[in-house]
Amino acid sequence: MKLIGPFKQIVTLANLPLRGKLSDDQLEIIQDGGILFHEDKIEKIGNFEELESVLMNNGQESQVIRMKEEHVVLPAFTDCHTHICFGGNRANDFAMRNAGKTYLEIAAAGGGIWSSVEHTRNASEEELLNTLLERIDYLISLGITTIEIKSGYGLNAAQELKMLRVIQKAKEKTSATIIATCLAAHMKPRDLEGSGQEYLDYILNEILPKVKAENLAKRVDIFIEKSAFQPGESKDFLLKAKDLGFEITVHADQFTPGSSRVAVEVGAKSADHLEATVDEDIEILAQSDTVAVALPGASLGLGEPFTPARKLLDAGAILAIASDWNPGSAPMGNLMTQASILATYEKLSTAEILAGITFRSAYALGLEDRGILAPGRKADFVTYKTNNFQNVLYKQGTLAPEAVYINGEKSYG
Ligand code: NIG
Ligand code: FE
Repeated sequence: MKLIGPFKQIVTLANLPLRGKLSDDQLEIIQDGGILFHEDKIEKIGNFEELESVLMNNGQESQVIRMKEEHVVLPAFTDCHTHICFGGNRANDFAMRNAGKTYLEIAAAGGGIWSSVEHTRNASEEELLNTLLERIDYLISLGITTIEIKSGYGLNAAQELKMLRVIQKAKEKTSATIIATCLAAHMKPRDLEGSGQEYLDYILNEILPKVKAENLAKRVDIFIEKSAFQPGESKDFLLKAKDLGFEITVHADQFTPGSSRVAVEVGAKSADHLEATVDEDIEILAQSDTVAVALPGASLGLGEPFTPARKLLDAGAILAIASDWNPGSAPMGNLMTQASILATYEKLSTAEILAGITFRSAYALGLEDRGILAPGRKADFVTYKTNNFQNVLYKQGTLAPEAVYINGEKSYG
């Protein structure tokens, strides 16, 4: 049994609804609190001194981790949408885009998703694994202990499986929880003759059965967009992937509306992006169990509008926030900075932001054991050297965690 504290504030995020708007007076904040945990699970949260006396009288072997200065503690974060397994770098895309070049001009100059495909295909498994582990460690240092990672820069059976095997190896080497997603349907590969529909059939026949046989991913994603796959063929593909036993998630409504409703129709766990979602489809999402995932890092990377997070919450949707960290549209990778900026532009409460990067984003990955500090939950939490939890968002990502605990073990700090 271990006890950590005393904390000036413990923000538990307990007793909050899964969907809809939240106000800050709904936040449970325990002053001078402690967290009692055993191995990877929380036993009790409460007043530090009371927990200390419980511990002293219980006779079991125990350890007290005593905070000497003022700290606050939050549940650790879940980044439910990343593309952090990749080779190469697209700084030139970023510079060209900022200098006013179009998508087609950037692609013609060797940029775009396809350039990341070429670099990823040319990278060895070892190179990919090393850079992936560095990115995972960076995310842990931000307090993110559950990370979704997509394939999607391989775009043929051998290369998609290579990416997913690298993600699998990373999973074995890190204490963070890694959730892999097969995004073979990221775009139609340029070196493949035939239609998008034929490529989707190839994924269903040649890639997904192997992904399943090797147990490399339980989730399938697709980019539905004019430049990628069309709503009709995508719906068919997703239903077949579901029949194969995969959970579904969708890159939806990034530039053009019409695909978030496909995500809802196929019962997707999440519809991500939604920068272009129209009011009617906000209602459809809000009536569904499909999590709406805002990706402010992509808005910031591309200079595009933010996801209508305020409207989604007001309509009653389940809103999560993720980084979309990828080499092209979202190179930053700092979820706290992005979530804080989203709060400013979309007028979200601190409770809505914190819920969006903890239990609501974990729910998007089918995980209901984390993102809340309460008995029985996973002992993943983040401490900050500050006396006020509001400073975490106020500092827009520049207040770094002091320590990050995963499964009750200090993994950073
Ligand atoms: O989520 N929208 C499509 N896919 C990624 C971008 C990937 C890339 O540009 O490499 C996204 O923004
Ligand atoms: Fe993405």
